[in-house]
Amino acid sequence: MENLLKQIESHKSEIAAFSATDANAVEEFRIKYLGTKGLVKAIMGEMKNVAPENKKEAGQLLNEFKLFVENKFDTLKESTANGQQASANAIDLSLPGDTLPIGSRHPVVLMRNRIVSIFQRLGFAVADGPEIEDDWHNFGALNLPEHHPARDMQDTFYIQQNPDWVLRTHTSNVQIREMEKGKLPIRVVIPGRVYRNETVSARSHCFFHQVEGLYIDENVSFADLKQTLYFFVKEMYGKDVKVRFRPSYFPFTEPSAEMDVSCFICGGSGCNICKKTGWVEILGCGMVHPNVLTNCGIDPNKYTGFAFGMGIERPAMLKYGINDIRLFSENDVRFLKQFTSAI
Ligand code: DAH
Repeated sequence: MENLLKQIESHKSEIAAFSATDANAVEEFRIKYLGTKGLVKAIMGEMKNVAPENKKEAGQLLNEFKLFVENKFDTLKESTANGQQASANAIDLSLPGDTLPIGSRHPVVLMRNRIVSIFQRLGFAVADGPEIEDDWHNFGALNLPEHHPARDMQDTFYIQQNPDWVLRTHTSNVQIREMEKGKLPIRVVIPGRVYRNETVSARSHCFFHQVEGLYIDENVSFADLKQTLYFFVKEMYGKDVKVRFRPSYFPFTEPSAEMDVSCFICGGSGCNICKKTGWVEILGCGMVHPNVLTNCGIDPNKYTGFAFGMGIERPAMLKYGINDIRLFSENDVRFLKQFTSAI
């Protein structure tokens, strides 16, 4: 019994001092003390040498010792597991940083920037306005009174809560907002998104983008309109491209015209893009209607001006060879990452 007590005490201090830094050391501990040929088993075997009157006390001591060893084993196991977790979480400052993928500009943005920058070089500023607009700014002030048949030219989304609000059908609402400011002359381009209640297909969408232009001053003439647009075409499509104006109708301009350029795909000989006509329609334009000036508090006897408006998606589709307008808004990275170059 004496002997057993001594043995247990010396092993206890040895076990208490045992430390393990990894799972291997913990396993060594288990084999050495708790394994089938381990110390606990061996000491338990000593029971047979204990005198019968001491057996009860010795049994208690041995059980305590076994518990002590098992607790130590659990503690070792836990601390090395935590340690390994901690080192796995530690930040290694010597590792190279993660490279962040660089995005690319959207093709509509590339084309918008290109169009806008040409007019900026002529002294046009950029103006912006709301996409949810009231009837007056989208239609009324633009010489499209209620029930005017020309409103049917643009299928409109109305806002349910307030039928006076629409999703703007063109960026011409910003022309009105600029004129209402009462600061003349005005020379702005207006890029932005517009909405029309149209069936979505490869060729048309219920939202798309436009750039409009507005120039109001004394003595602005149709010749100024033509020269400005000639410059634009030359910068945009090259000096060999031909331009033609066809008489047209817009309620907000008088006279109005549509401008075509000779097909820059086939050079004017006729292809699928220009539907064998040799011409591609680019924009609508005209001299701002005197009613529009009056609606915005500008004296039409003193001031005149021109305006124009063009879509962005179509020239972008022609430039990049995109055959489906829906691709612009599907957010497919495989599509978007193809347009990395600044144009
Ligand atoms: N707002 C017209 C449309 O969306 C385009 C347009 C035509 C704008 C002639 C103009 C213009 O400013 O003068 O179809």
